Amino acid sequence: MIHAANPDEIIARCQAIAKLSEQSGCTTRTFLSPPMREVHKILRLRMESLGMSVSVDPAGNLRGLHQGLHPDAPRLVIGSHLDTVPCAGAFDGVLGVVLGIAMIESLGGRRLPFALEIAGFSEEEGVRFGVPFIGSRALVGTVDAALLAKKDARGRTLAQAIRDFGLDPSRMSEAILHRPVLGYLEFHIEQGPVLDELCLPLGVVEAIAGRTQARVSFRGRANHAGTTPMHLRHDAVAAAAEWILAVESEARATPGLVATVGQVEALPGASNVIAGEVRASLDLRHAADAQRTAGVDQIFSAARDIAERRGLEFECCAQQEQQAAACDPHLTETMEKAVHRVGFPVQRMTSGAGHDAMILAQKMPVAMLFIRSPGGISHHPDERVLPQDVAAALRAGMRFLEQLEEEHA
Ligand code: HGY
Ligand code: MN
Ligand code: MN
Repeated sequence: MIHAANPDEIIARCQAIAKLSEQSGCTTRTFLSPPMREVHKILRLRMESLGMSVSVDPAGNLRGLHQGLHPDAPRLVIGSHLDTVPCAGAFDGVLGVVLGIAMIESLGGRRLPFALEIAGFSEEEGVRFGVPFIGSRALVGTVDAALLAKKDARGRTLAQAIRDFGLDPSRMSEAILHRPVLGYLEFHIEQGPVLDELCLPLGVVEAIAGRTQARVSFRGRANHAGTTPMHLRHDAVAAAAEWILAVESEARATPGLVATVGQVEALPGASNVIAGEVRASLDLRHAADAQRTAGVDQIFSAARDIAERRGLEFECCAQQEQQAAACDPHLTETMEKAVHRVGFPVQRMTSGAGHDAMILAQKMPVAMLFIRSPGGISHHPDERVLPQDVAAALRAGMRFLEQLEEEHA
């Protein structure tokens, strides 16, 4: 008799995987870095012990299949990402994969009228190549030649990184999800303070905010910090600083808009040289695409005004847009009923963080269930989950399967 995982075991599995890192002292696991092989080995063993067939697709996604009652039964995919941001927590992404496998464990070998496919995505955070969702894009067939040619900081292309891992990028189409598909379900930590402040264990996600990412630069004139009078300066750091405050006030003034300048690089970067150039990142999100694009326009026009007034040049490049994604109404209602039937309050919410579900939503119905982030902390080693909330998510997930089983019996 295969025993169903208990929440402490699920948390312990995530914490064990968090030790598999390319950086000593903290959890960093980027696209197909060596520790990812160890992660695959641990999860493959567990899935194979449950009688699942396991493979790694050409995008480096770990794929496990629990057959349905019939070989051509439709699939419900349950997944999330196995990569992390630098010095991450133990639960962002991984919890969604470990919980999915725990659900199969809890079936105790029982077959359903649909197959269950576990997907552990190779890359969601976009750290190594500056492009997020490489793993889930492969399932919907949008990993193209331009993306395969993208280079990382060491000049390795995505295609080379895939070959370095022992996979064949020319077979990328084999990663595309087989039809028929019932939909995609993702469990994920909320990564924010909402559920914690409401003292709720679970949140049913209705929509995922859209995101604009861009790299900008302010180019002025480097000069001597001691001999250049203030009125003759074209100081790129001072211009960027004024702009960053403008970004913050635009986001504060617009309900539902969040905007972050997370990376700032001053060049040449000497304390006695007025910076000639500043390169910075912009990350801007809103649940409604129209408000997001209006915010982007406003923030870039402020940048051009500041640059002109200070005698600098402003340039925006490498802009990436990710449309907002709505979760499927029926699957979301099914999840809402499941949460209610296992005795937990239902809280519908929008996700400010991006998730693989927004990519899968391009091709199939998706649902997401949030698990409380105590303290609202994430993308940080202090990221936590509570055992009772993991137990609640597992119970809601099993009830969700039962409801789908009734529908598809
Ligand atoms: O940045 C995000 O929204 C997610 O954590 N990748
Ligand atoms: Mn993340
Ligand atoms: Mn995540």
